Amino acid sequence: MLKKKSGYVVAVAGATGAVGQEMVSILEERDFPISELRLLASERSEGKKVGFRGRELTVRTLAKDSFKGADIALFSAGASRSIEFAPFAAADGCIVIDNSSAWRMDPRVPLVVPEVNPHALTDIPKGIIANPNCSTIQMVVALKPIHDAAKIKRVVVTTFQSVSGTGMKAMDELMQQTRDLLNFHEIKTKVYPHQIAFNCLPHIDSFLENGYTKEEMKMVHETHKILDPAIKLTATTVRVPVFRCHSEAVNVETTIKLTANEARAILSAAPGVVVYDDPSKNLYPLPVESAGTDATYVGRVREDESIENGLNIWVVSDNLRKGAALNAVQIAEELIK
Ligand code: A2P
Repeated sequence: MLKKKSGYVVAVAGATGAVGQEMVSILEERDFPISELRLLASERSEGKKVGFRGRELTVRTLAKDSFKGADIALFSAGASRSIEFAPFAAADGCIVIDNSSAWRMDPRVPLVVPEVNPHALTDIPKGIIANPNCSTIQMVVALKPIHDAAKIKRVVVTTFQSVSGTGMKAMDELMQQTRDLLNFHEIKTKVYPHQIAFNCLPHIDSFLENGYTKEEMKMVHETHKILDPAIKLTATTVRVPVFRCHSEAVNVETTIKLTANEARAILSAAPGVVVYDDPSKNLYPLPVESAGTDATYVGRVREDESIENGLNIWVVSDNLRKGAALNAVQIAEELIK
């Protein structure tokens, strides 16, 4: 935890990226107490101007000494930058909140979703806190109240993940391929191994020896670390041609029976969750409506009629906000509480 101050020195590493930009605007929106904001990126961005609270701040090149005198650093500049620079920040007494996968499974690094396991912040031995994977965050926000009420045994999840999870270049690729295809031009494929426009790719991050992708196994291991290692979980992660917001079809088997109505009531009362569920009005969570907002939306709540105690739910959240930048800022808010 951090000492009480009227304003903190905050650094954002990767401030020009899809998540970094969101971090800066969320710090502003939520009025985070800041005495100095340092914006850091690659040398390509050196000197760029970014607006913050009515002032223009200059982006500087991320370096080992960028964190001297800083209290909190939010990192979203890729795992290799986190591995290289986070230890320098921590050595300078700055608490790092890292959005990459670099430190998540380190037993001495807390992996935190404030609505689920804020208690993990009581011990930060390396001075580094990890922000979970975007698809894990929104799922555990929805699973936590169900687990508390009915003890989850097993989860089967399929994700429909937007391209912003891959970063700015992927958003540009989807835009360009869509334009080219609609104009009968040839498309270029650089970021993904296949065309992403008008397509679905059952392939996020690299493949592992067990046939799963790293993204799929991140959902398993991170859920165990954040929520409960006893939950059995299997995942299929799919990239879809959506710019923002991940959607997830989640099948949950519980120890105690919950009716769909009971589950809706439990979810409605849970922090960070908004239930949108009225089939008679075609009401269910949608990526286009969730983009730019903070909640984890849950709908299509049904009992799984193929097993004794099962539920199916549809979970949507903005992967750049709750799945990344917002969760990191919420962790910072916990630290200064
Ligand atoms: P830059 O814009 O200067 O390349 P995204 O995930 O949206 O692609 O964003 C990645 C972020 O990480 C950007 O802010 C990017 O800065 C930053 N970044 C990439 N490579 C480096 C590097 N070698 N050193 C510092 N920041 C980097």
